[in-house]
Amino acid sequence: MRNVTKDNITDVFKSYMSADMAPRTRELLEGLVEHMHAFAREKNLTHDEWRQGIAFLEGCAAIESEDRHEFVLASDVLGLSSLVDMLHSDPASTSSSVLGPFHVSGAPPLAVGGDMKRDFGGPILLAEGVIRDTDGNPIPNAEIDIWQTAPNGLYASQDDDQDTFSFHGLMTVGEDGRYAFTTAKPAEYTVPSDGPVGAILNACGRHPWRPSHLHYIVKAEGFRTLVTEVFPEDDPYLDQDTVFGVRNDLVMRYVEKAADEFPDGMAISGKVQERFLHVNFDVTLAKD
Ligand code: BEZ
Ligand code: FE
Repeated sequence: MRNVTKDNITDVFKSYMSADMAPRTRELLEGLVEHMHAFAREKNLTHDEWRQGIAFLEGCAAIESEDRHEFVLASDVLGLSSLVDMLHSDPASTSSSVLGPFHVSGAPPLAVGGDMKRDFGGPILLAEGVIRDTDGNPIPNAEIDIWQTAPNGLYASQDDDQDTFSFHGLMTVGEDGRYAFTTAKPAEYTVPSDGPVGAILNACGRHPWRPSHLHYIVKAEGFRTLVTEVFPEDDPYLDQDTVFGVRNDLVMRYVEKAADEFPDGMAISGKVQERFLHVNFDVTLAKD
């Protein structure tokens, strides 16, 4: 086509694509370009504004490294990561939520009843629950990969005072589907905001805070793997998570209890002398 116009350019783009293209690639590229062109037309995008968009992408690429995933972070704060999660979350299961960049593969095994708090300060949190199928039956031998921040709001990979796997544990539940562990209460924290994504947050008048949470990846044979997070109901950022990860069914309640209410059968049973927090949160997995 030699007579490309602002009105036909979207169709011209499509006409340049080969008939041999993979159908899904064609569908996605056509959709992406249709929406980009419609956006430029609708907003009457100027050269300066277009250049700023390109500079944003260049800034993300410049800062990207093994420890800094600015493009994913951009997707997170723009709500795209959460939208994709929600589009593919099975309504019969516990809701999924963002994985985030701080999961470390190969976490050491954590026995049911094990302790992740060790000598870290802050209140003891006893978290437990049952991993169930959609009929409510416990799923034996399910695996739950757990990670969270230390009480200072930092993940192990961000903090020289923690070892690689601190506040990470991989638990295989028994026949009763029950998981249980003690830990330090996780803290709210900010996503990295010293790069291009921080500039977007600033431009929107937004803060970079996430409410405190426990991350879980729950797996069992014959079931869909669930990547999720759970949040305490009293967290000040619950209603304004900067990455849009909160769902109603992922909100839990910490109940404060006296030391003498601490149950038997945990690694630290008999050693607890202070009030502690307790939460029960069952997880439902959908069939594969
Ligand atoms: C996290 O929960 O670890 C996380 C999620 C998205 C962006 C940054 C951190
Ligand atoms: Fe997190």
